[in-house]
Amino acid sequence: MLSNNYKTALVTGASSGIGEATVKMLSSKGYKVSALARRKSKLKKLSTETGCEVIIMDIRNTKEIEKLKNYSFDVFINNAGLGRGFTKIYKTKAEDILTTIDTNVQAFLQLLRCVTPSMVKKKRGHIINIGSIAGLYPLSSSVYGGSKGAVHLISQNLRLELSGTGVRCTEINPGRVDTEFFDVAFDSKKEAMKMKTGLKMLESVDIAESIMFALESPAHVNISSIEITPTEQAPGGVKIESI
Ligand SMILES: NC(=O)c1ccc[n+]([C@@H]2O[C@H](COP(=O)([O-])OP(=O)(O)OC[C@H]3O[C@@H](n4cnc5c(N)ncnc54)[C@H](OP(=O)(O)O)[C@@H]3O)[C@@H](O)[C@H]2O)c1
Repeated sequence: MLSNNYKTALVTGASSGIGEATVKMLSSKGYKVSALARRKSKLKKLSTETGCEVIIMDIRNTKEIEKLKNYSFDVFINNAGLGRGFTKIYKTKAEDILTTIDTNVQAFLQLLRCVTPSMVKKKRGHIINIGSIAGLYPLSSSVYGGSKGAVHLISQNLRLELSGTGVRCTEINPGRVDTEFFDVAFDSKKEAMKMKTGLKMLESVDIAESIMFALESPAHVNISSIEITPTEQAPGGVKIESI
């Protein structure tokens, strides 16, 4: 039987990386999964493999995502995001600020606005917001870090807003994960490769497993946040060898 009687799940950003791995894991456990992203061919392939429903949508299109109000999901993996402008502010392009804030903050909030009402109504559900350690510690990226810092505070506010409704909220803050994220973030392959070398990165499946841990905890337990990094990545400071 599925944990907490959860049966249906919406996963955004399902066409690659963390979202794709999560769709596979949820489907293998018997969830009826709706997989949302823009790339149709990737989602079709995932659907053939897992049986998930495909929702082709750009989450920045506020009018389009209103359609999600017609569904009733038990679980919402609020995962779609990107890191355009993953550099210093004085090197960032104007359009990258727009893209990142529009996707990671504006659309992220609009999705919560559309998906939470049915959960609150039935007094049951679980929202998993995918943040980042970049939202918890300064990593020299005002734009991406700022957007994920917003995700952190949104998650904390959401827990308060949902308190007493029976709907749980978990924030997952990963360190570096081996996905398409850095290929999307940087124009140059060299810059993307720099982020992918020098340490053993997390795999998408590691994040999917942490999502399952939160989902499968007993109904009276709310796993508020999970910070998960590669063993060799310690955020938030400089290592001083002499101490
Ligand atoms: N990789 C890391 O090191 C890392 C670390 C911490 C946090 N994260 C976070 O983890 C989440 C997933 O990223 P990932 O690492 O799995 O990267 P990814 O492989 O690039 O996946 C990003 C997903 O988001 C979707 N997406 C982006 N913009 C969208 C839009 N406007 N409408 C609909 N879907 C959109 C993409 O699908 P389409 O392009 O097909 O639309 C894709 O499925 C993001 O929120 C990211 O910030 C990643």
